[in-house]
Amino acid sequence: MTELALHDPLLYDGPFPYDRFKQLRDEDPVSHHEHELYDGGYWVVSRHADVQQVSRNPEVWRNSPGPFVEIPPGSPPEPEMDLLINLDGHEHIQMRKIVNKGFTPRRVAALEDKLRARTDSIIDSLRGRDSADLVHDLALWLPLHVIADMVGVPESDRADVFGWTEKTFGFDPELSMEDRNQAMTDMFLYADGLSRERQANPQDDLLSLLLEGEVDGHRLTQFQISSFFMLLQNAGSETTRNLITTGTLALVQHPDQAAKLRADLSLLPTAIEELLRYVTPVMYFSRQAAADTEVGGQKIPEGDRVVLSYVSANRDERAFDQPDELDITRTPNDHVAFGAGGPHFCLGASLARIEARVMFESLLTKFEGLEPLGDPDQMPRVRSNLIDGFAELPITWDAIN
Ligand code: HEM
Repeated sequence: MTELALHDPLLYDGPFPYDRFKQLRDEDPVSHHEHELYDGGYWVVSRHADVQQVSRNPEVWRNSPGPFVEIPPGSPPEPEMDLLINLDGHEHIQMRKIVNKGFTPRRVAALEDKLRARTDSIIDSLRGRDSADLVHDLALWLPLHVIADMVGVPESDRADVFGWTEKTFGFDPELSMEDRNQAMTDMFLYADGLSRERQANPQDDLLSLLLEGEVDGHRLTQFQISSFFMLLQNAGSETTRNLITTGTLALVQHPDQAAKLRADLSLLPTAIEELLRYVTPVMYFSRQAAADTEVGGQKIPEGDRVVLSYVSANRDERAFDQPDELDITRTPNDHVAFGAGGPHFCLGASLARIEARVMFESLLTKFEGLEPLGDPDQMPRVRSNLIDGFAELPITWDAIN
């Protein structure tokens, strides 16, 4: 049987193929792969040091036209959007400076009370039951609401916005391309309408900040603001939900680590860094060579794509002792789950960390006897070559305190 290509989402339908990446790290750390749509194919960078080197040299390695590896045939076309993640150089710096204003430590910390209240109400909604789907009944709600709170989406519009987000970015193989495109258009039009409304009546929210934001006399266009709205819905929700889901499973499967954490919740920030490393919800982003260059001793011609395998780098024996072990006290922990440094480092990292802290604290202290219902290795995963996580994960418990 021929092996599935590394960019084929079917490869990630079951438990993650860690062994295949270990073999690449050991035998072919910058490996070449064919791709139907790219003349030069693409290269997979699998070692931690090389992933860092590429990420930190944006003059040589550019993000435009986009850092994703397409899934032929019939993959959804990349929407024509001015996304932050697709920009390079000065253009990227200018836009990032504006959007950074929405993610200052003060603004992120100010969300914590709301976040706790939201987490409590999600867990309260499960009282009286003894089982649920960890993805749909629990993990996905907090990240969705947090982004909506930040951006300033009114409660009455959230069912619509969350529905469009799921359809657009949810990797549901059953959904037709038309439905997906329609949801994307609906969300874009909604973002456009909401920002026009904020233009007339500014509020203390991210949308109003983006509308007012100015760097070197440059303001974001209406189109850029609506595109950013879409990027946030995607980047903020698909990622964090998988950290919560797969991270919870990792703790349940390592009862000694969970017990240590429950006994000393001050370990949570260190534990969350380890869960980020161990779970790595975003498997990769890619770059294109702006000139002939090399990485890890391998020559790369101008225009070729390299895939930065964060998931492989995070299990690299050269960077971590016993990388396949979950050690919630691991320090230092130079994981690359939010990127490996450089200008595109995850904008929402501190927000994701607060969400994870509040959610894991609640799960650890409120649930008794939490465990998966059935074999997690048999549960459906999101069909994606970018995001690793479960599409469903049934759980059961003895009591909620
Ligand atoms: C566990 C949760 C998350 C993970 C694992 C994650 C991971 C990543 C990674 C790997 C990158 C690319 C880094 C690079 O290319 O160097 C990235 C970029 C980004 N993330 Fe996150 N992310 C998470 C949560 C969030 C949240 C909550 C938000 C927003 C609220 C967010 C917004 C963004 C944005 C806007 C970018 C693009 C930044 C740029 O291009 O300058 N992310 N994230």
